[in-house]
Formats: sequence, structure tokens, C-alpha cells
Amino acid sequence: MFTSRSGRRVPADDTAPRNPPTRREIARLLGYLRPYRRYLAAAVVGLTGGAALGLVFPWIMQNLVDAVLARQDLAELNRITLILVATFLARAVFYFLQNYALAYTGERIVVDLRRETYAHLHTLSVRFFSDRRVGELVSRLSSDVTLVRAALTNNVAAVLSQAITFLGSLVLMLVLNWRLTLFILALAPLVALSGVLFGRQLRKLSTTVQDQLADGTALAEEALSGVRVVKAFTREPYEAERYAAQMERAFDATMALTRVRAAFGPLVTFLGFGALAAVLWFGGREVLASRLTGGALIAFLVYGVNIAAALGSFTALYAQLQEALGASRRIFELLDEEPEIRDAPGARLLALAAGRLAFERVSFAYPAAGGQAAPAVLRDITLEIEPGEALALVGPSGAGKSTLFNLIPRFYDPTAGRVCVDGHDLRGLTLRSLRAQIGIVPQETHLFSGTVRENLLYGDLEASPAALAAAARAANAAEFIEQLPDGYDTLVGEKGVKLSGGQRQRIAIARALLKDPRLLLLDEATSSLDSESESLVQAALDRLMHGRTTVMIAHRLSTIHRANRIAVLDAGQLIELGAHAELLASGGLYARLYQLQFRRVPRAP
Ligand SMILES: Nc1ncnc2c1ncn2[C@@H]1O[C@H](COP(=O)(O)OP(=O)(O)OP(=O)(O)O)[C@@H](O)[C@H]1O
Ligand SMILES: [Mg+2]
Repeated sequence: MFTSRSGRRVPADDTAPRNPPTRREIARLLGYLRPYRRYLAAAVVGLTGGAALGLVFPWIMQNLVDAVLARQDLAELNRITLILVATFLARAVFYFLQNYALAYTGERIVVDLRRETYAHLHTLSVRFFSDRRVGELVSRLSSDVTLVRAALTNNVAAVLSQAITFLGSLVLMLVLNWRLTLFILALAPLVALSGVLFGRQLRKLSTTVQDQLADGTALAEEALSGVRVVKAFTREPYEAERYAAQMERAFDATMALTRVRAAFGPLVTFLGFGALAAVLWFGGREVLASRLTGGALIAFLVYGVNIAAALGSFTALYAQLQEALGASRRIFELLDEEPEIRDAPGARLLALAAGRLAFERVSFAYPAAGGQAAPAVLRDITLEIEPGEALALVGPSGAGKSTLFNLIPRFYDPTAGRVCVDGHDLRGLTLRSLRAQIGIVPQETHLFSGTVRENLLYGDLEASPAALAAAARAANAAEFIEQLPDGYDTLVGEKGVKLSGGQRQRIAIARALLKDPRLLLLDEATSSLDSESESLVQAALDRLMHGRTTVMIAHRLSTIHRANRIAVLDAGQLIELGAHAELLASGGLYARLYQLQFRRVPRAP
């Protein structure tokens, strides 16, 4: 199980970096750096300069000890102090250059990746989203993108800078005294190796801790967002107990981690200082044998520490790079997702439609999960709807009404047969020109966080204020909007004013009016409104339906009465079609549904 740095658990289909990244993946990743070559070059200059100057420090120490302390040379002390200050100043400049250029590149990559991924997500089909959790997609956009940035900038920079330090230290040590250098080189891997083993164990255990915590978070998130169900079943103690048990597991994992840390930490430190003592011993003998000065011995110690630190950090950096490559894989996976429904090559623009809709022997099955044969949800449906006609779809729950509906804006394509507008197969038209002529008033109106005006303008971003007000009036929405605290500029949605079901519907109607589509798809809300709200909505719908071809999923008798014809679906088949009176007289399913359901709806005329 892969846990991203934010502690958020990534679902099991993850691409944790089990397989080494391919050359193509790395090339693709590096491609994101290409536009920022110049900044990268600046970063490399800063980084190389900073790391190289870091190598000067032990040399200065050496001179300080040998010249100043041993020979009591005051002029040399002044000179060395100046050099020291100048070195640190230059290092500061280099570091600034490196940090700024890297941050710039990294943040640009974040923007580029997020923009590209988000735009790509919007090209994907409805089915893609119905198969995924939004939370997972959002986490790829946020934490995975951040991980990729770290891989491309900070990690690469750290590897480079550590490599320079490592090689530089090694060369300088060899120049100073090759015997001591070989001695240190024999010891360094020992210390580094114990650090690596310790680090690996630690990482494994800390992943377990993260997983346990993430499980706890997921548990709490789920229970808290379903708090109504919890309360309705009075399962508060049950949920509290589940969470507490999970926290105990997290505690146990943390303690296992602590035990390793407590035991191995001092051990590694001991080994490090042991090696240091050994170097002092060997170096001391070299000093006594006049093959080394006291200052050079101090310089050696610092170089030796540099080398051990570089060796140790390589493994940590390697792990981070692997993690980031896993994140990049998850992002590329999204980017490689092909939209299932898109414009066919040579798709034509749908000119202003007359609005004749035809289903020709349409069958449909939702794509099956896991290879089983998918049952047909719509079977051999043939149906024509004349321009300007209103057709009501009725039928028992699960009959396929919403499914039939979703074929019209091509949220899905039929598995057999075809759907046509004005005689054109939908699959031969561009999605944009098709959907531009379809207005949908859904069962539940989704309002975006923003003002009422912004929500209305979703129907037509260029609508004039006069057109907006006219649409709101025609939708019977103007009156309540004007009574909101800031009128059209009142914030609605999650953080704003909460609107009632009827008010939301009228906003949806106004939005559709602004769009002025030829085809109207109306999914009537099942929840009943109070009679005043109901009549306002119905009057608004009347104005909206006027002169358009309308297909509506109707739950209320008052709505059904507005339809010219009624299509009755049952188990995916069209079993009755005709006007209300005809169907009632024929005594079929519609007549039965009518007796059972529609007649009892309160306040139906
Ligand atoms: N996204 C989906 N993936 C797979 N199967 C689905 C999906 N949506 C609906 N179905 C199945 O298709 C069948 C028809 O569903 P549909 O939503 O079209 O019915 P409906 O007539 O609109 O019912 P209701 O009146 O309850 O809204 C049902 O058996 C349902 O389980
Ligand atoms: Mg439905």
C-alpha cells in the first residue's frame, strides 16, 4: 500500500514503484523541465558553486590551525577571517540563485501539470467519473503533483550537490594524504551501511504507521460524513469503538517504530563516533610521523563526515525519487486515459436543429465490471419525437428512464442502434455543437459556489444583464433572488445562502432559458414541493418548454399532463406509447402506475 506524503492513502490499484521506471517514463518526466532550461541552468550554477565552496571550509580550518594557532601568525588570522567571510557570502549568493531558480522551476511544473491534468479530466466521459472517487482524483491533482515537483527539482538538486561534495571531498583528501584517505574509505561504508539498514527498517515501520493513521482518518471521514445514518441507527458507540480500536493499532505501530528508532539510533551514532575515534587514532599516528599536520587532520575529519553524510543521503534520496516516480505514474495514468466519447474524425457541426429526435432500435448495456457479461438496460427501443413535442418517460424504478435520457447528450453511446437529431446520427456530430443545443434541468440542481449571477450565467457566459433578468423573471426566480441579501450577487453553494429545492429548480430553469436550447431534457425532482412553490416551478417550466422538443422523466401527474405523448418503459423495453387518455383506456402498465402512483400525488390537479 502506497501512502503519499500527506498521509492520504492511495487506493489499492496504485502504481507503487515496484517496477523500476522505464526510460520512457523518465524522459517524459524530464520533458516537463524543458521549458525552464534557463532557470535550471541557473540552479545548476548556484548548486555547483555552493557545493564547491563548501569544500573550501575544511581547508580554511586547516590553515587556521596550522598557520594561526601553531605559528601564532596574526596577519594570517586576519586574512583567513576575511576569506571565511567572503566564502560564506559567495555561498549565500549561490544558494539564493539555486533556491530561487529551483523554486521557480518547481512551481511552474506544478502549474503546468495541474493545468494539463485538470483540463484533460474535463475531456473524459461520464463513465470515467462514475467509476472513480472524486477524492482520489483530487488527491492526484494535489499531493501527487507536489511529489513530482520534489522529484524533478529538490531531489535531483540534492543528488547533484551531494555527488559534488562526495567527489570533491574524496579528491581533496587524496591530495592531502592518501593513506588516511584509504583508511577512511574502508570505514565509511561500514557506517553508511548500518545507516542504510537502519533507515530501511525505519521507513518500513513508518509506512505502517502512516497506513494505520490513514485508515483511522478514512474511518472517521466516512462515519462523520454519514453522521445522519449513524445517528438514525444510534451507532455512535459502535463508531467510537471502531475508531478507538484503530487508534490502538496505530499506537502499536508507532511503538514498534519507536523501539527500532530507540535501539538503532544510538547504535549508529556509536558506530559513527567509533569511526571518528579510529580516524583520530590513525591520523594521530600520521601526524606524529610528520606525514600530516594537525590542521590537515581536522580537515580530514570534516571531509570524512561529508563523505559519510553524502553516502547516507543517497539512499534516502533514492527512496524519495522512487516515491515521486510512483506519483508521476499515477498522474501519467490520468493523462493517458482516453475519452471514451469524443468527436469522430470528420464529425460535423449540428446546425440549428429543428429538434426531431429519433431512437432507432437502440439497445444499451453499461460496461460490465470485471469481465462479466453486462445485462442490457435498454432493449431495441424505437421512438420518434417530433420538433416541439413534449414526451414524458414513465416506468418503474430501474426501468431505464435515466439511461435513455443520458443517451441524448451522448453521456453514453448506445451499444446497438442509433440516436439521431434531425436525421443525423449523434456520433457523426461534434459533441460541442450537439450539447450546445441541449438544455438539461436535472433532478437535483447543482449550484456552484459563487454568486447567483455566476450560477445563472453558466447557461450563457455572454448574456447581458437584461437577458439575465428576463430569464430569471420567466423562470419565476426574479422575485426571490431580489429578496436575497445581496440580490444577484448573493453567494450560494456550499459556503453561501442555502436555497430551497424549488428555488434551486427555478435557477436551473433560468439557466436553461438563458442557454435557449432546441432540445430540453427534464428530470423531474421526486421530492414534492409545497403547492405554491410547485405552481411557480410548473409555470416556469411551461415557459421553458414552449417551442422546444422536450423529453421529461415525469413523476407527477401535473407534469405528465403537459406531455403530448407518454412512453412507458419497463425492464429496458418500450412497452406503451401514446397520449394519456389512450394509455389509460388500454388498461396496461401505465393505467396501473397511474392508479398506484400518480393519482395519489398530493395537490395534483
Ligand atoms: N452507471 C451505471 N452503471 C451500471 N449500471 C447502471 C448505472 N446506472 C444505472 N444502472 C442500471 O441500469 C438500470 C436502469 O437504471 P436507470 O437509472 O436508467 O433507471 P430509472 O428508470 O431511471 O430508475 P429510477 O426511476 O429509479 O430513477 C438499473 O438496473 C441500474 O442498476
Ligand atoms: Mg432515474
